[in-house]
Amino acid sequence: MSAFKEIAPTEIKENPFELIGNDWALVTSGTADKFNTMTVSWGGVGIMWGKPVTFTFIRPQRYTFEFTENNDYFSMSFFNEEQRDALKFCGSKSGRDFDKVKETGLTPAFTENGVPYFEEAKLVLICKKMYLQFLNEESVTDTKSVNKWYDNDYHKMYISEIVTALIKN
Ligand SMILES: Cc1cc2nc3c(=O)[nH]c(=O)nc-3n(C[C@H](O)[C@H](O)[C@H](O)COP(=O)(O)O)c2cc1C
Repeated sequence: MSAFKEIAPTEIKENPFELIGNDWALVTSGTADKFNTMTVSWGGVGIMWGKPVTFTFIRPQRYTFEFTENNDYFSMSFFNEEQRDALKFCGSKSGRDFDKVKETGLTPAFTENGVPYFEEAKLVLICKKMYLQFLNEESVTDTKSVNKWYDNDYHKMYISEIVTALIKN
């Protein structure tokens, strides 16, 4: 039986700067038959179009990108420090070359409508894509801070409704 409890996204008490920037997260998308996961540490949570949302940024060369592009939903799983090695693995190796579930020992779980996430997470956000757009060179105003991060591989921004938030007691 799942140890998760569903809460309203607005009830999340953790500091989003810590959660995303320090704890990191796994973005996971696909189906029970085929899914992939990768580590992210940039992005945000907030309100857009009157809904609680995530802002997620995925470069097009990621294998995970194929899954987030081809599925309406993805999850963001946040973990305690014990899973740091798993997150390092998922953030440095590609699902094109490795079975990340097998290599990390993480346990996949699925929502009722089949969105993959991980049982070991302390917090899971189930995200439904709302608006996607590639960042682009013309829109950069602070070139010194931004351009050093790119070699013609601008992230795609995903603004997604948080349809479900799951926490462990
Ligand atoms: C701490 C950390 C944060 C990362 N954040 C992002 C991110 O926000 N967006 C992104 O596209 N890649 C990010 N990455 C890189 C991907 O996780 C990495 O390229 C991964 O191997 C992609 O796996 P995949 O090819 O299986 O999708 C991050 C990596 C690490 C270690």
